[in-house]
Amino acid sequence: MFPVTSLSRADLFVTTALKRAPVLQAHAQSIAEELGAAFVPRSEQGLPRLFEAHPLALRALVVQADRLLLTQRTGEELFYHPNMAYLRLGNVLRGGRDLLTEAAQLSPGDSVLDATLGYASEAILCAHVVGDSGEVHGIEAVPELGIVVREGLKTVATDQVILNAAMRRVQVMHLGHHLEFLRACPSGRYDVVCFDPFFDQMLEQSRSIAPLRIFGSLARLLPEAVTEAQRVARRRVIVKTEKWADALEAYGITERIDSRGGKVVYGILPAR
Ligand SMILES: C[S@@+](CC[C@H](N)C(=O)[O-])C[C@H]1O[C@@H](n2cnc3c(N)ncnc32)[C@H](O)[C@@H]1O
Repeated sequence: MFPVTSLSRADLFVTTALKRAPVLQAHAQSIAEELGAAFVPRSEQGLPRLFEAHPLALRALVVQADRLLLTQRTGEELFYHPNMAYLRLGNVLRGGRDLLTEAAQLSPGDSVLDATLGYASEAILCAHVVGDSGEVHGIEAVPELGIVVREGLKTVATDQVILNAAMRRVQVMHLGHHLEFLRACPSGRYDVVCFDPFFDQMLEQSRSIAPLRIFGSLARLLPEAVTEAQRVARRRVIVKTEKWADALEAYGITERIDSRGGKVVYGILPAR
C-alpha cells in the first residue's frame, strides 16, 4: 500500500465518540496518524464545539465503539454499509442477471481492480463471483472515506452470510487517486479493471449513494486513467456511466451492456 502523501490535513480532524472515549482513543490516534490529520480528544465536548475550536476543519472522522462515522461541519454524515450489494447480491443468488459481472465476464479465480471503490457495492459483487481463489482490490481517492470503507468491509455484519464473506474478501489497496496506483502497477496485473465515476447528475435510482456525493471525489474520469487501466488489465476495462450520456465515446468505448429498463450502461474496452 502507498503511504498517504499529505502530512497535514487542516480540513479534517479525528476524534472519538463521547461514550467510551478513553477506550477508543488509541484507535482514533492511529487513524489520525495514517491520515496526517490532528487527533482531537473529545474531552466531554459536543462536535459543534470541536469544529469551533478547529475553524479550518470541514469534516471530522469520529471513532465510535462499533463503527467509524464521517461528519461534515454542516452536519451531513456517512458510515459504512454495503449499500446496493445487499439487493444486487440477493438478486444474483436468486438466479438474476448482474450487468457488471456480466460485462466483466468474471469467473472464479479472477482478479479485479475496482478503481473507484465508493461503498464497494460493486467490488463485493465481484468478490462473490471470483470467490476465495480470486481477488478484488479497491482504490478510493478520498483517504478518510477509504478508511471508513476499509474498516466497514472488515467489521460490518449483515444478516446475509454470503454477503459478509464477500465483503471480507475486498481489500482496499490505495487511499488516493487511481492514476497513481495504476502507473505503478505491472502490465496485466489484474484480469479486469473497473471504473464507476460519479455521473454529472444523480439518477433517482442512485439516491442510496447520495452521502458518497458529499464525501467522495466528483472528479471526472481521465482518459489517461482509462488508457493506463487497459495496460494494467489482462482482459478488459469496464466503465459505468449513464445510459444516455456520450461519456463512453470520449474513452473510445463502443461495446456496452445495459438492460432495457435501466438507466446505466457498462462500457467495455479490451486490454492492450
Ligand atoms: C459513484 S462512486 C462509486 C460507487 C461504487 N461503484 C459502489 O459500488 O459503491 C465513485 C467513487 O469513486 C471515488 N473516486 C472518484 N475519483 C477517483 C479517483 N480518481 N481515484 C479513486 N477513487 C475515485 C469517489 O470518491 C467515490 O467514492
